[in-house]
Order: sequence, then C-alpha cells, then structure tokens
Amino acid sequence: MITLITGATSGIGEQLALKYAAKGDTVIACGRNSDKLAELAKHSNIQSCEFDATDLAQVKAATGEFSHFDRVILNAGNCEYIDDARNFDSALFARVISVNLLAMGYCLEALLPKIARGGQLVMVSSSVTYLPLPRSEAYGASKAGVSYLAKSLAIDLNDVDVTLVHPGFVKTPLTKKNDFAMPMAVTATAAADYMIKGIAKRRKEVHFPYRFTLILKALRILPLPLWLKIAKGLAR
Ligand SMILES: NC(=O)c1ccc[n+]([C@@H]2O[C@H](COP(=O)([O-])OP(=O)(O)OC[C@H]3O[C@@H](n4cnc5c(N)ncnc54)[C@H](OP(=O)(O)O)[C@@H]3O)[C@@H](O)[C@H]2O)c1
Repeated sequence: MITLITGATSGIGEQLALKYAAKGDTVIACGRNSDKLAELAKHSNIQSCEFDATDLAQVKAATGEFSHFDRVILNAGNCEYIDDARNFDSALFARVISVNLLAMGYCLEALLPKIARGGQLVMVSSSVTYLPLPRSEAYGASKAGVSYLAKSLAIDLNDVDVTLVHPGFVKTPLTKKNDFAMPMAVTATAAADYMIKGIAKRRKEVHFPYRFTLILKALRILPLPLWLKIAKGLAR
C-alpha cells in the first residue's frame, strides 16, 4: 500500500506516517520542514516529499515523480485565532483559509487523478465545525469549507472512498499555543490510532474522542440564539 500524508512532519501527521510505515505501507511523508523530512526518511518505509501546500506549482512539481497512491491523507493545516473581531484581520483570515482550504484544492488537483481505483482520500477537518466557537472565525470557516468539500466529493467520486476526519483537541505543536482549557484532549498517537482504525473501516466520518465529539454533536440541536449565549459565556 502506498500512503501519501500531508503535514507529516509534526503532530498527528507524523504519528500517522510512523504507524503506517510500521505496518508495512510505503509512506510518502510531505511537509516543508526539510530537517524533519530527512529524519523521517531514515525509516526504510518512508520517502519524503517537500512542498508548500499553498503553492500549486510546488505541489505538482514535488509529487510529479509518484505515479499512484492507494491512500492520500490531506492533513496539513494551521490554526490562528481572531483576537479582535471588531478590527478584523483579513491577512490572518487569508493565511488560514489558504493553508487549510485552498491548499486542499491544490493537493486534490495534483493527487486525486493518481489515487488508484478503490483507493482512499482522507481529509482532516475539525470538530470546531460542529458549533461556532469564540475566536474561531478564520479556523472554523476554513474547516467548515473542508468538511463541505469532503462531503461533496464523497457524492461525486465513484471509485475513491472519502473519509472526513473531525478531531477534538489533540496535544500537538498546533495546540501548544492555546491559552484555554482543552477538554478531553488526546495525544497525537491516540489521534492517529483513532484515524487508522476508522480509515481501515472506510468510515465516511471519523470523529474522536467520542465523549467530546458526541457532546458537541448533541449541542447542535440547541436553537442558535441559546448556543450563542452559551458561547459568549465561554468567551468570557
Ligand atoms: N491538534 C488539534 O487539536 C487538532 C484538532 C482538530 C483538527 N486538527 C487538524 O489536524 C491537522 C494536523 O494538525 P496537528 O495538530 O498535527 O498540527 P501540527 O503539529 O502543527 O502539524 C501541522 C502540519 O501541517 C504542515 N503544514 C502547515 N502548513 C503547511 C504548508 N503551508 N505546506 C505544507 N505543509 C504545511 C506542517 O508541516 P511543515 O511545518 O513541515 O510545513 C505540519 O506537518 C491540521 O489540519 C489541524 O487543523 C488538529
């Protein structure tokens, strides 16, 4: 099995790369951090592939040498918060949308034609999409786009299975900067285990940790004005 993983140089993606390689897959580990990519490529089952996912030309050039994949996991992403909504930072908004959503489109253009018939496409979104949360205007909007994109692709792709991933909080460099409590946060290795299990079952949606994501899913039945009142309380 040939598995390509974006965002494989850190956090969840790195754990996925190491675990799939340990299972015997040939893993193509993607990212920008060349030192980390070189370290990963010391593993006999891991090949590195360096590109900035927000640059279509780079994505196409770097992945051009590969002819097919059985599984493509689009996991690269970043999070930045809007701290002052009244003075909206459109540059921050563009950065987050670019890496989390537009880059998905670039990877799809470059990689989707090379996924074998019966292969899998995995797209990492976030449980932030279940409910609007404070300071998440940019991150939440980008991930809401990813979730819609994945669900729509699941309708239109006939010979590739799409799995949409909605993680709760995962302890990684991405969340290290969070200055708020992260209820029920799991390790990156546990997150990778949840994902590998769900991907093997070709689940349409993988979400974890279940207690956390099920609570968020249940809260979605609240009328919007009531949820907004609760969320304003969280923001304070
Ligand atoms: N941690 C959480 O609580 C959590 C929750 C929900 C969803 N997620 C999602 O899970 C995914 C992985 O997150 P993580 O927590 O593992 O984060 P992380 O440890 O910060 O890793 C992010 C990865 O994305 C890559 N990346 C970022 N910008 C890139 C770019 N322009 N081009 C290519 N690669 C880029 C980074 O590689 P380089 O630096 O080498 O480029 C890195 O490998 C993200 O999509 C994130 O939104 C995370």
